[in-house]
Amino acid sequence: RSEGEEVKAIYLTGFMGAGKTTIGKKLGNVLQLPVIDTDEYIEKQTGKSIADIFAEEGEETFRKYEREVLKVLPTENVIITTGGGMVIQAENREWMKTNGTVVYLHCDVEELFRRLEHDSSRPLLSENKRMQIERLFQERLPFYKEATVTIDTTGKSIDETVAEIVTVL
Ligand code: S3P
Repeated sequence: RSEGEEVKAIYLTGFMGAGKTTIGKKLGNVLQLPVIDTDEYIEKQTGKSIADIFAEEGEETFRKYEREVLKVLPTENVIITTGGGMVIQAENREWMKTNGTVVYLHCDVEELFRRLEHDSSRPLLSENKRMQIERLFQERLPFYKEATVTIDTTGKSIDETVAEIVTVL
């Protein structure tokens, strides 16, 4: 990227556990772009954890925060890592595709399950995790696939994935 050149926002999407946040940080280093995580942004704005927002205000309110946060974040020279459910609202999908490059980090459901099995920070996954993951994954796959590009991260290291993203951008 040459000095002074504007690049459209890069939105990283994908299921919980796909590595959006970790990959986003590395990609930011490589491309020398700032990285903003929508979940972190919402947590800072509300002063609450995502789990507390779900518990105290409910999912609907959280989804409203997600719509709002996209609109206030920059759309140039930035990498935006999103929560796994950002794509479920058509309005968000449209916003991201209009204003930037949407990179879907795909990961097969078996590997997602292994990564999420012992995680307790995600309010959407409580009991019967495996079924919840499979159901949500199937439901959301068509939305994720609307991305500008799909990167398959299954079996790849973070560095391999980052390198692949750079080549397709
Ligand atoms: C959610 C994913 C989470 C977070 C919230 C809801 C979802 O983000 O936004 O718990 O609906 O898939 P991560 O994908 O970063 O876990």
